[in-house]
Amino acid sequence: MSDDTTDSNGEVELEARLAEQEEFEPPESFVEQANVSDESIYEEFEEDWPDCWERAADLLDWDEEYDTVLDDSDAPFYEWFSDGTLNASYNCIDRHVEAGRKNQAAIRWEGELEETRTYTYQDLYREVNEFAVALRDLGVEEDDVVTLYMPMVPELPIAMLACARIGAPHSVVFAGFSADALATRMNSADSEFLITCDGYYRRGDALNHKQKADEGLRDVDHEVQTVIVDRLGDELTHFLGDDAYDYDDLVDAQQGERVDPVERDAEDMLFLMYTSGTTGEPKGVKHTTGGYLSYVAWTSHAVLDVKPEDTYWCAADIGWITGHSYIVYGPLALGTTTTMYEGTPDYPDKDRLWEIVEKYAVDTLYTAPTAIRAFMKWGEKYPERHDLSSLRLLGTVGEPINPRAWKWYYKHIGSENCPVVDTWWQTETGGMMITTLPGVNTMKPGSAGPPLPGVDARVVDAEGDEVEAGEAGYLTVNRPWPGMLRTLYRNDDRFVQEYWTEYSDEDSDEWVYFPEDGAKIDDDDYITVLGRVDDVLNVSGHRLGTMEIESAIVGVPGVAEAAVVGGDHEVKGEAVYAYVITEDGYEESEELRQKIVEGVEDAIGPIARPEEVIFTPELPKTRSGKIMRRLLEDIANENDLGDTSTLRNPGVVDDIQAKVQSD
Ligand code: WT7
Repeated sequence: MSDDTTDSNGEVELEARLAEQEEFEPPESFVEQANVSDESIYEEFEEDWPDCWERAADLLDWDEEYDTVLDDSDAPFYEWFSDGTLNASYNCIDRHVEAGRKNQAAIRWEGELEETRTYTYQDLYREVNEFAVALRDLGVEEDDVVTLYMPMVPELPIAMLACARIGAPHSVVFAGFSADALATRMNSADSEFLITCDGYYRRGDALNHKQKADEGLRDVDHEVQTVIVDRLGDELTHFLGDDAYDYDDLVDAQQGERVDPVERDAEDMLFLMYTSGTTGEPKGVKHTTGGYLSYVAWTSHAVLDVKPEDTYWCAADIGWITGHSYIVYGPLALGTTTTMYEGTPDYPDKDRLWEIVEKYAVDTLYTAPTAIRAFMKWGEKYPERHDLSSLRLLGTVGEPINPRAWKWYYKHIGSENCPVVDTWWQTETGGMMITTLPGVNTMKPGSAGPPLPGVDARVVDAEGDEVEAGEAGYLTVNRPWPGMLRTLYRNDDRFVQEYWTEYSDEDSDEWVYFPEDGAKIDDDDYITVLGRVDDVLNVSGHRLGTMEIESAIVGVPGVAEAAVVGGDHEVKGEAVYAYVITEDGYEESEELRQKIVEGVEDAIGPIARPEEVIFTPELPKTRSGKIMRRLLEDIANENDLGDTSTLRNPGVVDDIQAKVQSD
């Protein structure tokens, strides 16, 4: 820690200085060693676009070299490196072993009860091969979708890489999702294989995960073979039914077996990831082998400054895209040591993350604003208990970070010695799109930064024209990029409809990608992301569709109609507010409220649990009968409502407002 922070006078001065300073330069010590430190990279990428993306592809080993960088003949179904072939598991494992780095730690895993496991690249090579052979024996063929419904155990990345090795795309379903959510995704992908786990620890308790998986399987409309990882041993005994296999038995039976990595076309699917959109149906986002892997390797190199000798830690869950790209594929493609933590940041105490940073001497920490806001609330005393001087770089992702939280992270975790990268991206983009390069750009807390080199992101108005600096508009991406989703699984129409707009004039046809975020841009091209402009909520960095939650609520007997909006929340960012109209013959009651909460947990999972359930006789509607969600949001946040006279039923507003305030 610098001297400023040790005496209380200095502390006050520093606070004042940080409050005023709106720009921060990357520390010299960081710049000197950064993977990317020359600002000419922006120009180089611009002049050489799209061939600049060879820089990303060059980070990988290809079986068959590609000739075409970008094929845009069927836009917006773009293809990248399409005549090349490669295997993702080979790139994440074998080549590091071949390079003589077999004894380096690939994965360091920390269980919630402080157990630890380390897999060297050699260990990973052995177990991925053995499990890949076992999967083949079970009948998994190239292009079969394998569903992984697992908590944060090492067998999750191992299973992902085993699938990649035999060319079977995986579809990971976040372990916190419900049985229903699992069944929906398995049915949608016709997935005939499930890898799951008996259970895991949450705040010291053993949770039964297999029970949820079994419940989900009852609603799957085809036969499924299941593999179960035994995480809990005697703590929770489980029974293997028909078509179910124990993970360890399978791996043990294949001891020493190897399988050649399957040569995949660059455009072959590496995985599917379901995410929430505006309708009730989750969307299966398709990512490919060549473009995706190049893109996450490149952004891990350029933005996360990953070096093979680092201990790198992204404290997300692999069940979300952040974990796919920046716990598993990006870091392992670069041959670094990636850290995995099973539990929550406040167990056994609120310094758990800092204990892990100290224990493993973590170089880079990548986490979410919701976590940072919780740390801030808990206070500096927790990080102060630990030596965090190993940290070189900090990152955040998932939602906008307010300058106060940014500065707290910068000061109390990074000791003003680490750049902070605020990275904007999405499940669909595969990897980071807007962020500062930590060894190049000035940081402006609250603003993610400029688009990455080679990325053309803009802010436009409703007509598609760029807005003036400082004005709010819609974020767009005006050029394709290698990590982009290729389509929505078995739904090309929805892919084009939901994300792309074609602008044509006499000279050109241009396809523009709409991420559905609002944003502002400043004179330096720095983009401040304001949040979703569609009916998608961001609760603790988790993306939830309001329609999905509404249909769960309407499924509860006694509910006639429901509208779900996001209300501001100090730690979660947004919280679920549900406005509910009861059916004739039903009254508002604590029991019904409870049933609604359970209904949502069963349909989606505890992450979607409504913070408030507000019973109301009517919902505010426009004259054409549309629910005025914005108004419900303003009521939830106790904002000024402005003119409500254009509503079909303006009288209802006062009633709802009174209810929210009395709750
Ligand atoms: C949405 C995507 C990216 C992986 C985790 C979330 C919001 C994400 C930022 C950021 C402001 C952000 C956007 C985006 N978002 N990162 N740095 N600043 N907003 O992936 O579940 O697909 O959600 O998260 O609204 O559209 P996701």
